[in-house]
Amino acid sequence: MKLAFTLNGQAIELECPDDEPLLETLRLRCGILSTKDGCQPQGQCGCCLALVDGMPKVTCAMPAARAAGRTVETVEGLDAGERDLLARAFVAAAGLQCGFCIPGILLRTHQLIRKQPAPTRADIAKALDVHLCRCTGYTKILDAVELYAAAKRGQPLPELDLSGRVGSSTPRYQGSELSLGDRPYVDDLMLPGMLDGAVVLSAHARARVISIDVSAAAALPGVVRVATAADVPGERRYGLLYNDWPGLVAVGETTACVGDVLAVVAACDERTARAAARLVRVEYEAYEPVVDPEAALAAGAPQVNPTHANLLSRSIIRRGDADRALAQSAHVVEGTWRTQRIEHLYLEPESCVAEPLPGGRLKIYTQGQGIFDDRRQVARFLGLPEEEIDVELIPNGGAFGGKEDMSIQAQTALLAHLTGRPVKLTLDREESIRIHPKRHPITMHYTVGCDKSGRLTAVKARMLGDSGAYASVGSKVLERAAGHACGAYRVDHVDVESVAVYTNNPPCGAMRGFGANQAAFAIEGALDLLAEKVGLDGWQMRYLNALQNGDVFSTGQVLERGVGLRRTLEAVKEAYYAARAAGRAVGIGCGIKNTGIGNGAVEWGKARLFVEPDQTVSLFNGYTEMGQGLLTVLIQCACEVTGLPATSFRARVDSTYQLGCGQTTGSRATFFGGLAVASAARKLRADLDAGATLADLVGRVYGADIEDRSTTPLGAKVQKIKTHPSFSYATQVVILDEKGRLAQVIAAHDVGRAVNPKLCEGQLEGSVHMGLGYALSEELPCRQGMPVTFGLRELGVLRARDMPVVEVILVEEPDPDGPFGAKGVGEIGLVPTAGAVAGALCAFDGIRRTTLPMKDAPAARALSVGKIKQS
Ligand code: FES
Ligand code: FES
Repeated sequence: MKLAFTLNGQAIELECPDDEPLLETLRLRCGILSTKDGCQPQGQCGCCLALVDGMPKVTCAMPAARAAGRTVETVEGLDAGERDLLARAFVAAAGLQCGFCIPGILLRTHQLIRKQPAPTRADIAKALDVHLCRCTGYTKILDAVELYAAAKRGQPLPELDLSGRVGSSTPRYQGSELSLGDRPYVDDLMLPGMLDGAVVLSAHARARVISIDVSAAAALPGVVRVATAADVPGERRYGLLYNDWPGLVAVGETTACVGDVLAVVAACDERTARAAARLVRVEYEAYEPVVDPEAALAAGAPQVNPTHANLLSRSIIRRGDADRALAQSAHVVEGTWRTQRIEHLYLEPESCVAEPLPGGRLKIYTQGQGIFDDRRQVARFLGLPEEEIDVELIPNGGAFGGKEDMSIQAQTALLAHLTGRPVKLTLDREESIRIHPKRHPITMHYTVGCDKSGRLTAVKARMLGDSGAYASVGSKVLERAAGHACGAYRVDHVDVESVAVYTNNPPCGAMRGFGANQAAFAIEGALDLLAEKVGLDGWQMRYLNALQNGDVFSTGQVLERGVGLRRTLEAVKEAYYAARAAGRAVGIGCGIKNTGIGNGAVEWGKARLFVEPDQTVSLFNGYTEMGQGLLTVLIQCACEVTGLPATSFRARVDSTYQLGCGQTTGSRATFFGGLAVASAARKLRADLDAGATLADLVGRVYGADIEDRSTTPLGAKVQKIKTHPSFSYATQVVILDEKGRLAQVIAAHDVGRAVNPKLCEGQLEGSVHMGLGYALSEELPCRQGMPVTFGLRELGVLRARDMPVVEVILVEEPDPDGPFGAKGVGEIGLVPTAGAVAGALCAFDGIRRTTLPMKDAPAARALSVGKIKQS
């Protein structure tokens, strides 16, 4: 159809399909990239917001035809002064992380303040109801809107600290470009001659593939290539720990989950590629899927994954004599705690661009959490030497662990390889949810004892985790759950077994907290039960048992120094008792989380500083920016050492210097990357101190590689157990209102050293938001291995108006081994949350809940999230 409308003040006339959503028209035909696709066609994330005749509209849910004759305004069309003011307000408030949701929110802010110049925070939260942010927890977004509103009323925005020094709230690297939607994500990349890809996924979680007929798809005009397993030149199976995950399932093989890819299509545009994918005919012999981990372990159960028995892993920790200690304990509690599968729901679905280069080389633009692991696996898939593949990180729109595994990098690379043309493949929300690994559901049976005074004596735990169809890092998640089985408490007698099992459910792997959250929910519940028996309150029980310097962690590692847990308890003490005295229902939980993978893994930090001809310094490292602020923090490490301002540095993550560090996981990127950057920066500093200027040093490279081989595997028979390089510690207090709804969360976190206090707070606020959803409303139930919903609201992520007041208290007990004393902060923010919520709910209605999410609770029923229809 022909379509005419006014876009950002310009008259537009174009041709588009009759049923095209306005979002596609804007992005594909008008070059508008501030409107992002987070959930098309659901209309539930707000990333695609535009103003149509001055009214905010989610353009993914609006046919382009309805824009005919109307005015459409996007962030690109705001006048320069307005754009600058909005971006400065968001940057000054640290109101963004990955940035993917922000252009939509920024446009909403512009429109809201035009109508309502001085909104309350409740007004702002209500206005943001369409918008989902998975990173920030909304607190700083609300701050940003308030700052902008105040600026419109004539108040100056706060001065930014551009020194870049450690301890300063240096503005986020590229924060302004991210806020305005000017910094591209992978799906925003446009290369000449580029094709679009689409995937064909298995309709069944477990079915033998009898045939795949691609003839109709291949014959569709505009289709350039349809590929199946037979077209893969290398090894079809890849993986982070085991090569058990086929990039394409072959005829004759049996699928393992509904995210299995059976064919991929490259076509002239995405619409054609998707239409062709729908024409691929697959004949199946469907089998009953194995969806229960206990059933998967039963004798005679079908083997889910042909490369491995259904028992993926068993992690064992035994110290002392737990049975005897329990028998001699004054009090013993026993119970089963269950946690659920949840979806990461990063706002940016997976996307990859692969580009053939001259000489047979290939370039991959990826958003993965370990770009060198992506390269290794793509090379294996294509049967190419790794050196023939260049790889570049396009900092992503959120990951939270869910972008550690490959999603569609291999298939995109295959299509580029086969067609000789650049190919982009972007998943829609349903495909994303079907393919990438989730947080493990774990069933945990605990027996915990204490003496008369309340001192813990023993922990006995049995854990069973559903790892789904592929290993991913499931064995490590269950290993980490075992390692954190005693929580943040000193326990002398420990007996833990933790098992990971293959099933035909969606794969489970890394997600923020990595097993520690599940274990914390159980041990915090057990602690509350014991406290009742002893006659202590929750704070007293935790203070009595809190790990201190010199104590032994669950795994047997002596925590020699830097344990700030009691300081976090002291930081919340007054508020905890004040809320109780005021008659409020209050819950409390502590948390510990490893920094670094540990358990015998070799860990690296690698950095290069290259002095550019324009006398800026390019900072290369091997870890991923995914909204957590890594690039800003690394620049600050360089600034602190060199004395140069933050504006001197440009951050890059690519294969120029082969800085493979492995996955950005285990809250380790600041720790190891920061050490490497600081070390490289000291070399640059030495030259500057010797009198050289940056102009003199153009072309020089300053590098440092940090390697840590100090940790020991779980169960190693060694004299000195050291399972992890470092730990961070936390206490959280959850306070309910008189109706049992969330009112306030106080999160006191020992971060070692807050390299950037505002970004650090933002990480913790965002984690608390995720933790509250985990506690109360988030879940991804499956039927026959298929998620029962892909709806963003139904998945249960809290909206702005659901959030209580979150107060973050940063405690700094330095880790002498960390960069400037810093510890990891990326994951621990939600380790204590669910336990603290359960405690608060029990204080409110006397019900001790042991299964997540606690949807029956008043705090959950008050949320605005959607209900999953079970029909
Ligand atoms: S992409 Fe339109 S609301 Fe999510
Ligand atoms: S900053 Fe909102 S989704 Fe990442």
